[in-house]
Amino acid sequence: MSLSLAILVSGRGSNMSAILDAIKSGALDATVSVVFSNNPEAKALEIAAAHGISIESLSHKGMSREEHEKSVLQILSKYKIDFVVLAGYMRVLSPCFLRAFKGTAAHLDEAANGASPGEQLRRPDGPPCTPAPLTFDPAELYRIINIHPSLLPSFPGAHAYEDAWEAGVPASGITIHLVDELVDHGPILHQDSFQRLAGDNIDTFKARGLALEHKLFPAVLHEISKKGIIPVLQEFAGSSSQTESYLHTASGSETASQRQLDKEVPVK
Ligand code: GRF
Repeated sequence: MSLSLAILVSGRGSNMSAILDAIKSGALDATVSVVFSNNPEAKALEIAAAHGISIESLSHKGMSREEHEKSVLQILSKYKIDFVVLAGYMRVLSPCFLRAFKGTAAHLDEAANGASPGEQLRRPDGPPCTPAPLTFDPAELYRIINIHPSLLPSFPGAHAYEDAWEAGVPASGITIHLVDELVDHGPILHQDSFQRLAGDNIDTFKARGLALEHKLFPAVLHEISKKGIIPVLQEFAGSSSQTESYLHTASGSETASQRQLDKEVPVK
């Protein structure tokens, strides 16, 4: 089914652009109902407007998180949204916001028929990263998808490329996941890696990662539009031993398992 997306952005919007370009070329079966930013100056808003997409913004400055999220939900409620896509949205979302997007989209329910246990993934509210088999229960999933530039659980947080580079990993990667109530955490839809090459510097390393982000995000969204979210989760669960070998260190996973609501990150 064709997906209706709300894209949330804070900055330059290169992932959003990749999604819009993929829709335009027919590589992604989706419509972007709205692009929202907490940064009214975001470059992404200009790009979205140039594509003829509805844009909305509301700065979080001077507002409590609760107030801001309530207003954002009010704004978003004007639009048809199957999935909220976080494409560089530099705000941590509270459970209150997430719960407005509990897995109620029809295709989530349809896809759940016959859902089998997955490995290595966890339900929101479950114990962190348990390897025990879990069933994907659409009633416990949020229709919110994030892209993070590392192989989670390694290097969560706002400086993933820099942290991976500093740690000297031979390869890093990109994770696309459903958002749960922890930070940079939730059932993984897809991961892919890229190499650190001899002669790289942080800029070339980042550029290689970003190019991968732009390829993967539209492709994973297209997979979801074709198959539904549960089959995509199941497929990843079936191949996760491959990605596991790329996980350089789990040292970041403890910080990922703590809410960091007070630790806002700078808008790019
Ligand atoms: C990307 O690296 C994304 O993975 C991360 O924030 C960055 C956003 O960049 N969550 P852009 O705004 O899409 O160019």
